[in-house]
Amino acid sequence: MIELKNVTKFYPGQRQPAVANVTFTVPEGNTCVLIGPSGCGKTTIMKMVNRLIEPTEGIISINDNNVRQMNAVKLRRTIGYVIQQIGLFPHMTIQQNIAVVPNMLGWKPAKIAQRVDELIELVGMDPPTYRDRYPRELSGGQRQRIGVARALAADPPVMLMDEPFGAVDPITRDRLQNEFLRLQERLHKTIIFVTHDIDEAIKMGDQIVILQVGGLIQQIGSPDEILASPANDFVADFVGSDRGLKRLSLIRVGDMYQQHPSVQVSEVAEVAIERMDKAGVRSLVVLDRERHVLGYLTRKDAEKHPRRLVADVMNPLEVYTEKQSTLRDAFSEMLTNTIRMLPVVDDDDRYLGVVTTDAVQNAISTPHNGPEGV
Ligand SMILES: Nc1ncnc2c1ncn2[C@@H]1O[C@H](COP(=O)(O)OP(=O)(O)O)[C@@H](O)[C@H]1O
Ligand SMILES: [Mg+2]
Repeated sequence: MIELKNVTKFYPGQRQPAVANVTFTVPEGNTCVLIGPSGCGKTTIMKMVNRLIEPTEGIISINDNNVRQMNAVKLRRTIGYVIQQIGLFPHMTIQQNIAVVPNMLGWKPAKIAQRVDELIELVGMDPPTYRDRYPRELSGGQRQRIGVARALAADPPVMLMDEPFGAVDPITRDRLQNEFLRLQERLHKTIIFVTHDIDEAIKMGDQIVILQVGGLIQQIGSPDEILASPANDFVADFVGSDRGLKRLSLIRVGDMYQQHPSVQVSEVAEVAIERMDKAGVRSLVVLDRERHVLGYLTRKDAEKHPRRLVADVMNPLEVYTEKQSTLRDAFSEMLTNTIRMLPVVDDDDRYLGVVTTDAVQNAISTPHNGPEGV
């Protein structure tokens, strides 16, 4: 784990600190996102962790070892660093760029070549196509991938990522973020990740540290804690007035759908009415024999033709949501289709239950109640 204790940094000649009495801990395997406006000290904090800069005061330790007492060069080899401007060496091929740290560590050429190919593949690119190219022959998104691959080269337990996806368009950024989340699920690195984009912070962080200019921490918390209860006006402003909607993107439909009675398409409308009365609802979800969702049946429509089959009086419905979807996406489907209830299906498209607009409303207005009991 990484621990910063009362860390302060004054640059020579500055009267205001760049980083002021900063304390936070990143547990092993977690991603901690530092976020705040330009100049709030994010990059300075990173550089103090790998000792490109020394703090004026305070202690930084990794697994209880004070980094000040470690050899700076050795320390940096155990830390993968992805910098703001990608920082690939332009005169080196992709292979040579990725191999920088393994070379310094004296790995055998065969082992390095194997590792380079493994990493190019890991970040979703084709090794034979790209290993001998130069950085200028790659797109911005590809260069960022190689930047990540290079940082991972010697399999460091700690990664410092300074706006690693800052220089690409939003669609590429989204893809890089998803890939990185998948990677992290497997690799469990301890990561400090810098961004100035609150959506990226919410998506990537187990924990978010919000800083104000002058290097002052404004709030530390999980994405949901910060969205549910911003500590002050600065944080509230920073996370945006749509923070309720943003919270919805942290909730999976599979974790909150509710049971709702259904009826088979081959049953008679009368039976459906009875079932509605018993359950105290005014509509049922209509299913086929395999429990696939076909539509819904309202009490009003059933009453018009109680002797007819459900198939004849139901309303077809082509939208439903998977249990992995976020509540935000589900809500958006409901708005687009002007429905107040959206069926939820499992991986085999079988009916599980529903999400309702009331449930969405509840999720937005309930206070955060995570394990910390905030
Ligand atoms: N090498 C330096 N010398 C003097 N001042 C610096 C230096 N690097 C950064 N600063 C100042 O320290 C503050 C924090 O900078 P930085 O850590 O780069 O912020 P961020 O990464 O959040 O944009 C800024 O006011 C910046 O101008
Ligand atoms: Mg910076």
